[in-house]
Amino acid sequence: MRHKTHFPQFDREEDLLKEKNILDYARELKIPMGSSCRGRGICKECRIVIEKGYEVLNKKTELENDLNENERLACQAIIKNDSADIHIRLSHKGSLEQISTGEGKKEVKLNPLTKKK
Ligand code: FES
Repeated sequence: MRHKTHFPQFDREEDLLKEKNILDYARELKIPMGSSCRGRGICKECRIVIEKGYEVLNKKTELENDLNENERLACQAIIKNDSADIHIRLSHKGSLEQISTGEGKKEVKLNPLTKKK
């Protein structure tokens, strides 16, 4: 049986592959996850919560020392074994804001202070 990487918030999953990091999964599955430092562990926009399957990942890096116990940076979290499914939830507020604002298509009326004559 092949184990999976799940993003339950988005109902998306993919087979676990050793040595692949969670940010790569997020990109492939089109999960709206910030990554302005491009995976260098600096921006912290890719912060995630591991709800299940923490044991399939590598150990936390020094860049993740300030995170809560079950949190990781997706760019630093690498699959080390494929013995179990892993469930991942986004925890970064910015990522969740992208989700909530992406749904509604409200028309916004602009009222600038200066106008073109
Ligand atoms: S992509 Fe910036 S910390 Fe992970």
